[in-house]
Amino acid sequence: MQAALIPETDPALYRKALGCFATGVAVVTTVTAAGAPVGLTVNSFSSVSLEPALVLWSLRRQSSACEIFSQASCFAVNLLQSAQEDISTRFASRGAEKFEGLRIRHGLDGVPLLPDCVAAFECRTVRTHIEGDHLLFIGRVERFTLHPDTEPLIYCRGAYARRQSGVHCT
Ligand SMILES: Cc1cc2nc3c(=O)[nH]c(=O)nc-3n(C[C@H](O)[C@H](O)[C@H](O)COP(=O)(O)O)c2cc1C
Repeated sequence: MQAALIPETDPALYRKALGCFATGVAVVTTVTAAGAPVGLTVNSFSSVSLEPALVLWSLRRQSSACEIFSQASCFAVNLLQSAQEDISTRFASRGAEKFEGLRIRHGLDGVPLLPDCVAAFECRTVRTHIEGDHLLFIGRVERFTLHPDTEPLIYCRGAYARRQSGVHCT
């Protein structure tokens, strides 16, 4: 067992400990004022409240998407399925062509919705909050879709896992 106090701890060890919390993987999307689609891979998504339906995700303040998401009134959370590891990798990159070749639909205020996701939540931003090096977004869910027969993509200890084969985190 390794024990460490936060101020002295090795940041890599701290990240390693946080990475033991297995999550799903989502691509959060929005549109710029000029109508260009924007999106990035996140695993900071969580539900905040059921009544009203509120969700939360957090964005690194140094992200190139920070200003766009701050100015947008809506966002969509597209929960990836197990076969969409490539989509996760694509939207975690810095490329400008993230949406190329994807059959997107347009949701609330023109927000892009990705195809073949397990679920998608279309949200109106109700609050943003700067905390440390991240910007938190709280959104009210106005519409959602669900494909109950698909398996979600799982992320744990820096690697993807699939439920069918068991969540084997290394
Ligand atoms: C599984 C996974 C989860 C991620 N979760 C987040 C997150 O919650 N918030 C965030 O800001 N970045 C997260 N990232 C990193 C962003 O996807 C990545 O920094 C971004 O797409 C790069 O573009 P940018 O630096 O131009 O913003 C995650 C990446 C991966 C692979």
